[in-house]
Amino acid sequence: MTYSHKVLDHYENPRNVGAFDKDDETVGTGMVGAPACGDVMKLQIKVNKEGMIEDARFKTYGCGSAIASSSLVTEWVKGKTLDEALAIKNSEIAEELALPPVKIHCSILAEDAIKAAVADYRQRNTDTENT
Ligand code: FES
Ligand code: FES
Repeated sequence: MTYSHKVLDHYENPRNVGAFDKDDETVGTGMVGAPACGDVMKLQIKVNKEGMIEDARFKTYGCGSAIASSSLVTEWVKGKTLDEALAIKNSEIAEELALPPVKIHCSILAEDAIKAAVADYRQRNTDTENT
């Protein structure tokens, strides 16, 4: 199959690859797998005192579209609140990257990874958020 230019760009120059210390209380970690293909995506957010995502990292063991989707969302979540990050839809990712139908699940993986990261952050910061 052929990849779109944007997929190739993110694949060859992925943004924000790496990891934060998952025990850092300002960090939320989401780890999700795609049943369709077995690919795995780890996405982390770093949240500042105002409840804004100030940084993000990812590691993806998967196809080019999954890597591009995770790279893209680490850019998108920066500067967003947790609720704004939760509003990111896989359809927006798929549209931005011009993913073909067989690669839609790769963008779903990225949406799920954000949701898991936010849920992890919230679970570990139930006392401090919004204070
Ligand atoms: Fe081969 Fe996802 S199916 S990397
Ligand atoms: Fe499965 Fe891309 S082919 S995540």
